[in-house]
Amino acid sequence: METTRGETPATAPEATRAFDRRRILNWFLGSSFAAMLVAIIYPVLRYITPPRIAEANTNEVEAGAVNDPELREKGFKNVRFGAEPVILVRTADEKFFAMSATCTHLDCIVGFQKEHNRVWCNCHGGAYDLQGRNVGGPPPKPLTPYKVHLVAKGSGPSVIVVSKA
Ligand code: FES
Repeated sequence: METTRGETPATAPEATRAFDRRRILNWFLGSSFAAMLVAIIYPVLRYITPPRIAEANTNEVEAGAVNDPELREKGFKNVRFGAEPVILVRTADEKFFAMSATCTHLDCIVGFQKEHNRVWCNCHGGAYDLQGRNVGGPPPKPLTPYKVHLVAKGSGPSVIVVSKA
């Protein structure tokens, strides 16, 4: 049978096949869109969600030997105290200080300026003394102090132990 324009109308099986093709195509498009959303949203969620870090279940942490090359060279090193970063400072006269390494202004990680003998935050120029007191720049509060003591280990160099004050 021909239509008025000379076309043959689709028979029932052809119409069903076209409908099936359309459904499959729609399914592929829908699943591709869903996969694209997951590919965008998942990394964003992972980025903004802080990683789970186990809290310290001890009150002290070994921070290496007194002759640690990093400490000798830079005058400081950052150690993990559970989830809390702690800065360990070694001064030129071989004294050790430890305090929280998280700046009290906007949570940047602080470092140590050997030449000025001060703890320094590069983000906005915050300065702390070796007891962690805020002495310059925008930090509103001092850094939390930690205790440092040296433990002799056999015939080798002593080990630096950082503990909560
Ligand atoms: S975050 Fe340290 S001074 Fe601003």
